[in-house]
Amino acid sequence: MAEEMDCTLAMIKPDAVAAGKASEIQQLAEMHGFLIIAKRQLQLTTRLAEDFYAEHKGKAFFNGLVEFMTSGPIVALVLSKAGAIRAWRELMGPTNVFDARLKAPKSLRALYGSDGTRNATHGSDYPQSAAREIKFYFPNLQLASAAEDAATAQE
Ligand code: PPS
Repeated sequence: MAEEMDCTLAMIKPDAVAAGKASEIQQLAEMHGFLIIAKRQLQLTTRLAEDFYAEHKGKAFFNGLVEFMTSGPIVALVLSKAGAIRAWRELMGPTNVFDARLKAPKSLRALYGSDGTRNATHGSDYPQSAAREIKFYFPNLQLASAAEDAATAQE
């Protein structure tokens, strides 16, 4: 479904929310042609963060990632645009902030991230992940009608 709709799941992570950058990041997303079709601010519990990042369980960074992602509120967004998954990942830049600063200095992670853990934003990597992640945060969202409503509101 997410594939057909060209939607992705984005998160503004606790570091960027705590720094007061959530609105600025959403404005940048809109300036780059993304429609925000759903939005939710919440604080993840350990259990929710472990579920969200289940595919990384066992990796060296897993506990640090969960600790960081539960350290404060996040903003979860459903973004729509042609080629949304790839376009959002491009706007975010490389996962590692130090790489981002070198290779994509205008990217969100270069601008708003701080280090290897606190990298400001998340984006789904594949259509299947986007579908899973959108459902994770917005289980009742009707993507097609939400996208239509957002497009109408923007006109
Ligand atoms: S992997 O192993 O290549 O699949 O991992 P990667 O795609 O690079 O990263 C997956 C998510 O883990 C986060 N990450 C880390 N967090 C804390 N510390 C370290 N060292 C670290 N390395 C990777 C990374 O930010 C990814 O989170 P999301 O939310 O998907 O961006």
